[in-house]
Amino acid sequence: MHDRTMLVVGGAGYIGSHTCKALALRGYEPVTFDNLVHGHEWAVKWGPLVRGDIMDRAALDAVFEHYDIQGVIHFAAYCYVGESMTAPGKYYRNNVAGTLTLLEAMRDHGVRPIVFSSSCAVYGTPTTPVLAEDHPQWPVNPYGWSKFTVERMLEDFGRAHGTRHCALRYFNAAGADPDGEIGEAHDPETHLIPLVLRAARDPRKPITVFGTDYDTPDGTCIRDYIHVSDLADAHIRALEALQAHPALTVNLGTGTGFSVREIVDAARDVTGIPINPIYGDRRPGDPSRLVANRTLAHSLLGWEPRYTDIRQTIEHAWSWMERDPE
Ligand code: UFG
Repeated sequence: MHDRTMLVVGGAGYIGSHTCKALALRGYEPVTFDNLVHGHEWAVKWGPLVRGDIMDRAALDAVFEHYDIQGVIHFAAYCYVGESMTAPGKYYRNNVAGTLTLLEAMRDHGVRPIVFSSSCAVYGTPTTPVLAEDHPQWPVNPYGWSKFTVERMLEDFGRAHGTRHCALRYFNAAGADPDGEIGEAHDPETHLIPLVLRAARDPRKPITVFGTDYDTPDGTCIRDYIHVSDLADAHIRALEALQAHPALTVNLGTGTGFSVREIVDAARDVTGIPINPIYGDRRPGDPSRLVANRTLAHSLLGWEPRYTDIRQTIEHAWSWMERDPE
């Protein structure tokens, strides 16, 4: 039995699969637990796949009994902000109740460390240009509230049951594995960079820029795009940091923002294809600017982004997309 076995819940998804690769490269055995609703069997390449749902306590018990799990990295969640507005129950049931089931299973099997995928959505509408972890939290959609609620549950389980947790508040995950082994494959795809690249590949699927009248230098929204391999690396650091710290909450972003127009321009450079966006209305619920303060990620995890050139991040996403025949 491997003595560094980690349970990766949602390991067949975009960020989960990149983290499995990073774990394997660092000598861990990632055991993926995934219901394959949004995850992909082909993305599980670095350890066993157990097909199961976090709402299913018996399936979780079986995995904790079968493997000598030392810690959990928990990605499994629905993550469509718009859908969370129209189907909040789905988000509270899966993201909150599902995580509660997982935490209770961990408690009962004596597994303490958990790295949790949180989100900058816990902050809601920013009151400062750059968001630090102590920024006030008032989410503006059920997705954000589901992440917020799990963060509170983790604190309570820590106090009562000795669970050790690191909540990682991601900004905008982007890019793909630089070796081309895995990449982003959401269905439906709602994220900017893959949609811009899809527009480059197929002019019949143009990209719509959501809003050009924001209070930003070029009028379009600004986001902090973090390379998925940098995110993956931070998860392993978080896992290891939990040996010394019982409770951590850390932003994961590069600290630099790019506007939607800048992303379209960069994608044009990377692909060499003229991309002609449609300029549309604002998408409800989009804050004008979300950029991370990454001081804590550095001081607590020793983490720095390796990929700070947005063109390189887009290039990796493009190479991944070019492999896909669809
Ligand atoms: N955008 C467009 N056109 C599109 C898609 C997106 O202009 O077709 C814009 C959005 O308005 C936004 C930016 O591109 O300004 C990025 O949008 P994404 O949908 O790629 O990402 P979000 O910033 O909306 O969402 C991300 C994560 C969520 C998380 C959220 C926190 O994907 O999980 O950040 O606010 F909740």
